[in-house]
Amino acid sequence: MTRIFSGVKPTGHLTLGNYLGAVRQWVAADQEPDEALFCVVDLHALTVEHEPARLRRLSRQAATLLLASGLDPERCTLFVQSHVDEHTRLAYLLECTATDGELRRMIQYKEKAANAQAAGDGVRLSLLTYPVLMAADILAYGTQEVPVGEDQRQHVELTRDLAVRFNQRYGHTFTVPRATHPAVAARVMDLQDPTSKMGKSHESGAGIVYLLDEPEVVRKKVMRAVTDSGDGGVVYDREARPGVANLLDVLAACTGGEPGELAGGYQGYGSLKRDVADAVVELLRPVRERHAELAADPAEVERVLRAGAGRARELARPVVDRAYAAIGLLGR
Ligand code: TYM
Repeated sequence: MTRIFSGVKPTGHLTLGNYLGAVRQWVAADQEPDEALFCVVDLHALTVEHEPARLRRLSRQAATLLLASGLDPERCTLFVQSHVDEHTRLAYLLECTATDGELRRMIQYKEKAANAQAAGDGVRLSLLTYPVLMAADILAYGTQEVPVGEDQRQHVELTRDLAVRFNQRYGHTFTVPRATHPAVAARVMDLQDPTSKMGKSHESGAGIVYLLDEPEVVRKKVMRAVTDSGDGGVVYDREARPGVANLLDVLAACTGGEPGELAGGYQGYGSLKRDVADAVVELLRPVRERHAELAADPAEVERVLRAGAGRARELARPVVDRAYAAIGLLGR
């Protein structure tokens, strides 16, 4: 039985990138006889400027959307990070395992710290230590597989390094996990700027498809997607034609085809965009519908999260206690 853990950060509304890069893989894993845990990682949302009421709203919405996407609370454990103290308990030990230099090298830290500085905000210390908390999220559960989008690869690598280092120094304590990525759409790009990732916290939403966008809004965003100049027809070339490649990736992810082959079926960008828009609208329709039903019963979502936190605590506590003992702290 494979132990799976992954999480989503409630810093904004969930996007098509989150869905294709991660959530859809979680739903697939959830069908297997695995022990799978999925987490709304709310503490991670505190690493950048935030507004408390919005964070509460987004955390509830993220949990509701995960259920709406098809995660079955009978088969997997869905919970909120801040409800399980083991994450922060373990993070401190891992801060004592990681080095300052290692964390400063993280690409996401460099990008987000630069954004915070440009906005005139201070860079929160937690933004630097974020990947250590993420490592704790993963290692606390003896996780073997971490289904994530491409942008999390470096963080999972760091998690592996920390697990190996801790085990070497203090004796075998942690399972060394590995990242898994979807075959296509592991990095969905912004429709307005296909050289940057479709990210939920971007200021302008024009290039971002949100899971809860109305079908007409989705259609408009896709039809206005930036495509590439050049008259070589529709070809799949991520370097030279990033806009078109992104649309082909999304289409392939929605319809199950292969991006390079799909390209051959199109003469022009217009018909490609129409098919992508249709495919995305159909993919998201059941998610939006189910979300509306579940959002009408917030008490049920809360019940699921509470039960999930109880189960998560049971799994994490012995692992974290073991780490406390191994590193030389006296038992309580
Ligand atoms: P987050 O909240 O940014 O994204 C959640 C998941 O969605 C994937 N993703 C994408 N995949 C493809 N294309 C995109 N444009 C795109 N944008 C996001 C992400 O790779 C991720 O899998 N640090 C993590 C959250 C986290 C976590 C964890 C993940 C905290 N602890 C432990 C796994 C295990 C993050 O910020 O994800």
